[in-house]
Amino acid sequence: MRRTIIAANWKMNNLMKDAITFFSEFGDTALKSENEVIIAPAYPYIPLASALAKKQNIEIAAQDVYPKAEGAFTGMVGGKMLADIGVSAVIIGHSERRRIFGEPNDLIREKVKFVQENGLHLIFCVGETLPERENGSMFDVLKEQIHSAFDDNLTLAPEKITVAYEPVWAIGTGVTATPEQAVEMHAFIRKILKERYGYEDSRILYGGSVKPENLQGLLSHEDIDGALVGGASLKASSFMKLVNF
Ligand code: 13P
Repeated sequence: MRRTIIAANWKMNNLMKDAITFFSEFGDTALKSENEVIIAPAYPYIPLASALAKKQNIEIAAQDVYPKAEGAFTGMVGGKMLADIGVSAVIIGHSERRRIFGEPNDLIREKVKFVQENGLHLIFCVGETLPERENGSMFDVLKEQIHSAFDDNLTLAPEKITVAYEPVWAIGTGVTATPEQAVEMHAFIRKILKERYGYEDSRILYGGSVKPENLQGLLSHEDIDGALVGGASLKASSFMKLVNF
C-alpha cells in the first residue's frame, strides 16, 4: 500500500505572519489524517515552519538545494544548512526552476545525486509544456527528464523517492489535467521506475491547479498517489480540505 502524500509548495509566497496564521489554523489536521503531509515554505521561513509544525506529523521540505554541503556559492543554500534546520525532503527539478532559471539537466542530476547521498526524501518534478503535449512528444520528454536525472543504480528507499508529474500547462493556469490524462502519464512514469530502476512502490504525485474541487477525481485512480499543490496550499482553509479530501 502506498500512502497518499498531500504536499504544499508555497513557492515565493507566504510571509512570516501568513505562516503563523496557516499553522495556527491548520492545527492537528495532519495528525488526524491518514495521509502524509509535506509543506515546503520558502527558505527564510523553514525554521519557523519546523517549530510551528513540531509533533504535528508534518514533513517540512525545501523547494530546492544547491548540491554542495557548504562553501563559496554566493546566494545558494546547501545541504549542511538544510540538515541543520531539520529539513528531510527536497523538491528538485520544478519546471519553474528549469524554465525561469534555466536549470540544466546536468545540474538537476547533480542535485538528485546529492539528495540521494544525504538520504533525503527526493520529490522530483517532471512535466511537458503545452507545445510538447500538442505535438505528442510528452512521453519522450518525461523519459528524457527521468533518465537524465537518475543514475542507473538509485539506492534511495522507495518511500524516499517521489515523482511529481506536473504538466507545465497546468501549473498556475486553472487548467487541470483530466484524470485520464494524468493516469496515462503516471502509468508511464511508474513503468519507467519499475523497469529501468526497479522501483515498484514509489509514490507518483500529480501537480497543476489542484483544488479541493478536483482532487477527489484525481485520487480515485490507483496510479495517482497524491498531489503537489501550489496556489491552493497557501491558505490553511483550502489545504485542510485537500488533506481531508
Ligand atoms: P499550482 O497548484 O498553483 O498550479 O502549482 C502547482 C505546482 O507547481 C506545485 O509544485
